[in-house]
Amino acid sequence: MKTIAVHIDVKSAEFQQRMADYRAVLTEFRSRHDQVIHRENDPAVIKHLERGKMLARKRIQLLIDPNTPFLELSALAACDQYENQFPSAGIITGIGVIHGRETMIVANDATVKGGTYVKETVKKHIRAQEIALQNNLPCVYLVDSGGIFLPEQANIFADRFNFGRIFNNQALMSAKGIPQISVVMGSCTAGGAYVPAMSDETIIVRNQGTIFIGGPPLVKAATGEEVSGEELGGAVVHTSISGVADHLAENDVDALRKCRAIFETLPLANRQPVDLQPTVAPLFPAEELYGIVNVDLKKSVDPHEIIARLTDGSEFQEFKEQYGMTIVTGFARIMGIPVGLVANKGFLTTEASLKAAHFIELCNFRKLPLIFLQNISGFIVGKKYEQEGIARAGAKLIHAVATASVPKITLVTGGSYGAGNYAMAGRAFDPNFLFMWPHAKIGVMGGEQAAGVLQSIHSQKGGQSLVQQFEAESSVYYATSRIWDDGIVDPADTRNVLALALTVSLNRPIEAPKTGIYRM
Ligand code: COA
Repeated sequence: MKTIAVHIDVKSAEFQQRMADYRAVLTEFRSRHDQVIHRENDPAVIKHLERGKMLARKRIQLLIDPNTPFLELSALAACDQYENQFPSAGIITGIGVIHGRETMIVANDATVKGGTYVKETVKKHIRAQEIALQNNLPCVYLVDSGGIFLPEQANIFADRFNFGRIFNNQALMSAKGIPQISVVMGSCTAGGAYVPAMSDETIIVRNQGTIFIGGPPLVKAATGEEVSGEELGGAVVHTSISGVADHLAENDVDALRKCRAIFETLPLANRQPVDLQPTVAPLFPAEELYGIVNVDLKKSVDPHEIIARLTDGSEFQEFKEQYGMTIVTGFARIMGIPVGLVANKGFLTTEASLKAAHFIELCNFRKLPLIFLQNISGFIVGKKYEQEGIARAGAKLIHAVATASVPKITLVTGGSYGAGNYAMAGRAFDPNFLFMWPHAKIGVMGGEQAAGVLQSIHSQKGGQSLVQQFEAESSVYYATSRIWDDGIVDPADTRNVLALALTVSLNRPIEAPKTGIYRM
């Protein structure tokens, strides 16, 4: 493979200015992150620790194999909503390795309103299960939750992708042989009781874990019966009388050890074999990405410069290099794993769409995972392009993206606008993972364009408020808060995150395509 020719002058004043601009973006990102992770002075955290319980992220750290990474997802879910009273939406989700096996871990954070669920908590839990299903990952639920956050019940309880979906997913995954394991480390009330009850195997901590359909106050109100939590649904009751749980643990550490022991009995994953080569570092430092991208999304960015900082040896075997040049396609390796890359370099034209569709078909046949680097303002517009059938070319690309059976990972490196979002494997196309860089934006179009459109249709005034609305709703924090992505990634960490996501996505064999390659 050829080393990518890079042209950017890292000593230039423009590059240094962009680096400086990016520092402000990173400062905001890191400070938001710190606020949800470091909550040592929060009274609920202090109370939790005083009870001798472990914090959710600490539990995860002890559960996974020593010195292995944990790929935390959507850490900023629910940010800027509910007066910021639900950090990380009160649930930690992510992928860690347990006894050598990549596993989806879902841990309630009882220090956030008793671990109760608002809309984003449910969405994050269900998204974690979707990832587990798509990538064939065993699930461990570290349960410590008061169930539905009652004032929000209308947004969480009854609809198709609401709370009940969690249990439906557990049953369906178990039926597919995807292990479901619960560790009850706190309360597990009402509907929440079904998380351990629906699991293949369940551990419960003595004098700490409880499982009941109705807690003591509800029982008293309903039947007049007075009963303590322990008598009603404590660890001893469930492991020796009801049989709802299988293993009695003495404390958090013991429970996590017992959970790891269960993993020793799981069958091996049926992974997709790949031509894995030794890892070679890129030739350029990842931190240079801060000076390559532009906080002003109107300024163009050459994706070759980004690719050179992500791929092994900065190598890239480009496909159709001189054709449809507003999209860049080609083969490379990330930490030894062979991949196909599709990256925007301007509007999607007819040629670019056909080229990308052809390339996606090639990757599909060669069983190469696809990485989409999205920085797209949309398809090109105008009479000439409509008449040459841009919609037909775009449809071919969207069709290729939707039907490709290889793993897809999408990274928004700039703007994600209009149908460009769809053509580049946006959320609706079920990429295995979708991450965003901290300066990225996402929306149907930019605010000024939207105001312009409305003005030309209705001669509407007051465009400024629409511009502001669009600006606010396009923010990466607005997106991640609503779990339109799987999290915001620091550009300098991207290579590691992509490598982890790729490894995870190869946990199931890739299906063979059903048709030949149509040359576009
Ligand atoms: N809905 C709304 N708020 C709830 C809640 C629920 N289901 N469960 C707990 N909370 C809130 C509490 O009001 C409190 O809010 P505050 O911090 O603003 O005062 C916060 O969560 C922490 O609750 P607290 O009872 O102080 O914490 P705890 O650690 O001692 O107990 C629970 C946690 C979950 C065991 C306990 O609150 C409880 O049993 N809640 C009711 C659970 C229930 O019946 N759920 C049924 C719904 S499916």
